[in-house]
This record gives sequence, structure tokens and C-alpha cells, in this order.
Amino acid sequence: MVQKMPIVTEPVQTKLTETPLEPIGPLDTKVMQYLPKMAEGCRVPVFMDDQQAFIPAEIVSIRENAGVREFYIHYVNYNRRLDEWVKTDRMNLKELVPPPSASSSSSTSNNVSQEISRTVPSATTPSTSSDMPLGNTTTFVLSDDAEYLNSDLTQTSAISPLTDCSTTTMAAIPPTKTRGNGNNHHSGVHSVTKVKNIDMIHLGRYFIKPWYFSPYPEELTSCPVVYICEFCLKYCKDVDAIKRHRTKCTLIHPPGNEIYRNGTTSFFEVDGRKNKAYSHNLCLLAKLFLDHKTLYYDTDPFMFYILTEFDAQGFHIVGYFSKDKESNEDYNLSCILTLPPYQKKGYGHFMIEFSYTLSKLEGKIGTPEKPLSDLGLLSYRRYWSEALMEALLNHKPKDGDLDYPSLSINDLSEITAIKKEDVLAALQNLNVIRYQQGSYVLSITKDLFDSYHDKRRLRVNSKSLVWTPKLPTKPINQFQIK
Ligand code: ACO
Ligand code: ZN
Repeated sequence: MVQKMPIVTEPVQTKLTETPLEPIGPLDTKVMQYLPKMAEGCRVPVFMDDQQAFIPAEIVSIRENAGVREFYIHYVNYNRRLDEWVKTDRMNLKELVPPPSASSSSSTSNNVSQEISRTVPSATTPSTSSDMPLGNTTTFVLSDDAEYLNSDLTQTSAISPLTDCSTTTMAAIPPTKTRGNGNNHHSGVHSVTKVKNIDMIHLGRYFIKPWYFSPYPEELTSCPVVYICEFCLKYCKDVDAIKRHRTKCTLIHPPGNEIYRNGTTSFFEVDGRKNKAYSHNLCLLAKLFLDHKTLYYDTDPFMFYILTEFDAQGFHIVGYFSKDKESNEDYNLSCILTLPPYQKKGYGHFMIEFSYTLSKLEGKIGTPEKPLSDLGLLSYRRYWSEALMEALLNHKPKDGDLDYPSLSINDLSEITAIKKEDVLAALQNLNVIRYQQGSYVLSITKDLFDSYHDKRRLRVNSKSLVWTPKLPTKPINQFQIK
């Protein structure tokens, strides 16, 4: 019965039916002589189904399967979730090149984290604004000190565009850290962690194809499918084992307290210290889709917020985010995951909004732990832009007044609970901030406003939240909670 459920594979693999752009041609003896030399680190163009083109790729690992050599390849400048096992028939062996010398590694530095790790001075200069909306454009004059802001914006403009994050995580970081849920990556040049080790998982109603390595027990790596109980997240090696498990496992929701319910959507708060087995299994599951994160066995310092959708069978896990119980760096979110079957439906946004809602209740400004993944950065940029647009839409002249009240980056940060660096980065990314007559102004067209206005399908309803912060540090009313 379980096998009849829908199969979700991400990314969708299309069959290679069309003629490749550049025919590979038969493997003549001239080409064949290269084969014995094929080794880890070699570069060779490989036909990528998604792109329908040959893409430069690096051989990460080699194995023999029923007498046939297979190569685990990484498409250069593409995310590692697209890495795959291929045979030589997908390769243009005429362009095989030996591994580059150690000094000219393909890894580049990760600029994603730099984007939001700058400091912004607090707002000091009052606004000189009397700018009024011009036609379809609304202009806000920022009251932050122009000189400081200017220097910060100069740095902001140096932000590199969103690129492949996968090639940027190779910096050797000692795998000795014992804290939970961190950002480090254990990939050495020949590390086994660069090769996906689980072919398929079955979770609830879905078969899901993992994206990355996760340190599940060795014996599971040879199973065609790893079966995971969707409620306690225990993993089993076959259907019989999961059936046996389900006769014993009485859970129909994650452990912990249900702290939010709105319609069929709930959040459960799980303490990593009190529910170690669940938290550990959750991290193992999450690692299948998170490349930047190292899995640690100490989950004590974290709270986990599990997003579920309810139906007659129970509360099905949709995604989660983790949060440091105490963070000196203002982190309000450590890791976030929407499970692939639920992605691109607004749940990521919803969880991010939820994380900022908790921050507002704590009286804190928050920021996600760095580095962000490529999809993490896209989601955060979108959230920050929408939250700022909403704050600006609500920022209106007082009755009978033509002038907009002054507004600073600091104000925007306090209204939204988004850290100032992130506010600035988001405004810069939107290309709405500019220098004009000695002040920094935000010019936002009606079209831009409209494109953000109430686009989100899922919104956090704070009335559905039953949660008290452990240690409130500021009066709650400093923030706007809707
Ligand atoms: N391609 C392009 N844009 C995307 C994609 C995508 N595949 N996924 C999300 N986005 C962008 C879009 O701008 C989207 O807004 P829009 O729908 O208005 O265009 C926005 O992100 C939010 O989309 P959601 O549907 O709300 O996000 P989703 O539920 O898919 O979750 C998440 C986003 C959590 C990043 C998900 O992709 C995921 O789990 N990825 C794997 C794990 C990961 O990378 N986590 C972040 C690591 S960083 C950290 O943990 C701090
Ligand atoms: Zn179970």
C-alpha cells in the first residue's frame, strides 16, 4: 500500500531523449586510452539533463557497479544537490583534463555570509524630509547618518551576486566541534561526505530523493529506500521494519508542545535537551537537504520548531527550523528546512515570519545563522523585502499632515525585528535606496509596492500563538505584532 503513494523526486530527472548539443561519438581507441587515467579530481564535460547541455564537471568519486565504472560528478558552479552518478556515455571524454594542482582548487570564498555581516551605525540624524510621493513613486528620506550609511552602502554594492554556494563550502574546518546544528562543513577534498549516501527516503506519503550526504548508519546506505516514521522520525531499513515500528509507535504528532494552531497548520516546540532521540533524528533527516550544516550529536543548546499540517491521520511534518537557546550573535534561526514535497508553497516564508514573531515577543532583533544556502538566501531576501515593504506601507503621514514622519534604518529594524545589516542589504538588493541632496532616500514605485503587497498566502496569526519567551529583554510593545 505504501508504495502506491506519490513519488516525489527533486530535482525532476528528465530522460535523455533529445540529441545532445555536441554528439559524444563512439569511444574510439584514441579516447579509450584516457579511461584508465580517469581519477578523482579530473574535469570533464558531462551532459546535464536539466540544462540539456554539456556542463563542466569534476569527478568526485569512482565506483564499479556490475562491472561498469560509474563516476560521481559535481557540475562546476552548480549546487551540489545536482551531483550524480553517471557513466562515460554522458561524458565528452575528448575534453577530459587531469586534476588541477592542489594550489588551484576550484573552491572560491563564500561571499554569501559577507553580505549580512557588516555593522551599521545607529540612527542619529533627524530627517530633513519633506519629500512627497511623486506620481507613482513614494519617497522616504532615511534619517540615518548619511556618511556612515554611505560607507556601508559602498560595501553593500560590493556584494557578489547569488552564485553556487556548493563550491564555497570546502574550507577545511576541523570536525571536532561538539555543539549542535552548526554551520561547518566536513568536506575534505576526498571526503566521503561529498557523495550522497542515501538513494531514497520514504516519509509519510512521499518518496523523496535526498540532495546531500547525511551520516545515517552505514548499513542503511545499501538500502534502496530508507523508511522514516513521519511522527518520531525513527529510520528503518525496509517496509517490514517500518510496519513493525508503526504498531508500537503511538505518536501522531511531533513530541513537545503545540504552540501554534491556525486551521490545519501547527507548530510544535521541541527542546533538544528533553527530546534527544527526536532531535537527533530530525537533524539526520534535515542534513539530507542541507549542505552547509554539520550534524552534531549535542542537540541540547537548541529548540526545534516543527511545522505540521493536520489531517485525519495526524500532524504531518512539513518542515522545521532550529534556534539557539542563547545566541550572542542575535541569531534567531539556526537551520531551516521545508521538505521537498512542500517547497515553493510559501512554508519557508511562513517559518521565517514565525522566527521573527518569536523574536518580537522576546523583544529582540534577529538574524539567521550564516552562511545561508542559495535557497536560504533567496527566501530571506524575499521575506526581508516583503516585511520592509509592509512596514513602509504602514508608515503614513499623520492626519492632515503632508510630510512623512522621519524614519531610520534603526526604526525599520525595530518595527520588523530584522537586524539592521539585513535591512540595509535588502533595501540595496531591491535597488530602492539612493543618495539625494544630502540625505538617503528610499524611492519605491507603486508597481514595486504592488508586487509585494499581500502576496503571501500563509501569514502568521499571532492570536494563534501560545508562547512566552523564557527571558524577555525589552518591553514587548516596542515591536509591532499583528
Ligand atoms: N527557486 C527560486 N526561488 C526560490 C526557490 C527556488 N527553488 N525556493 C524558494 N525561492 C524563493 C522565492 O523567491 C520564494 O518567493 P516567491 O514564491 O514569492 O517567489 C521564496 O524563496 C520563498 O519561497 P517559499 O515557498 O516560502 O520557501 P520554501 O518553502 O520552498 O522554503 C527553503 C525555502 C527553506 C530555503 C527551502 O528551499 C529548503 O528547505 N531548502 C533546503 C534547505 C536549505 O537550504 N535551507 C536554508 C539553509 S540557510 C539556514 O538554514 C540559515
Ligand atoms: Zn514512530
